[in-house]
Amino acid sequence: MPGLLLGDVFPDYEVETTNGKIKLHEFLGDSWGILFSHPRDYTPVCTTELGRAARLSSEFSKRDVKMIGLSIDSLEDHHGWIKDILAYNCEESASCSLPFPIIADSKRELAVALGMLDPDEKDKDGLPLTARCVFIIGPDKKLKLSLLYPATTGRNFDEILRVVDSLQLTAGKRLATPADWRPGDCVMVPPSMSEEEAASLFPAGVYSKDLPSGKKYLRYTPQQKAVRDSIDIQHSLMD
Ligand code: BEZ
Repeated sequence: MPGLLLGDVFPDYEVETTNGKIKLHEFLGDSWGILFSHPRDYTPVCTTELGRAARLSSEFSKRDVKMIGLSIDSLEDHHGWIKDILAYNCEESASCSLPFPIIADSKRELAVALGMLDPDEKDKDGLPLTARCVFIIGPDKKLKLSLLYPATTGRNFDEILRVVDSLQLTAGKRLATPADWRPGDCVMVPPSMSEEEAASLFPAGVYSKDLPSGKKYLRYTPQQKAVRDSIDIQHSLMD
């Protein structure tokens, strides 16, 4: 089965991109990374997605996340289409550049190996296009999150930023973030943690919701200042 599982090391491909040849691990350095694919250049949903990703690029940089796009189109197509994406984003597009490279995976090498192909969307020769895939890679080069959307559904890049905040907050810590969590909201205590341990690790207090089962597993704690500060410090270092 092609594809990547959470925790797998992201392969260190050498790829052709709009910014020249890139070795993925060298490109990522010690940063986080996001690799996102799209089905085809010069298509409407893809243009809105890459436009939105470009507008949010300073937010990704603040979080020390390197961005890189991918489709099975050629470098020539990418360069031509980038002008359209920039014009979609701003009137003064002649003076702008796309703030991230796009991989030209014309031979579908990464698309096949990483399980990015969408069997329902084909080019004029009947070959499958890339789906809307997102891989978030940690500084240890391991896969932390993946998303796979079909061509007909554009992604929400604000949600992708939100999951980066959750991933960075919870990395290496015994914490979890609930549905629709936003930075600053309460976080959740994992079920494996005893009450005594939770009380000592979360001095701001642990609140559990009473449930019909009587089981005390829905436990919240305020996002601790220490945790919040570590995010703020990471962000201010990048400003
Ligand atoms: C689009 O980006 O609009 C798109 C691309 C491929 C199939 C369907 C929609």
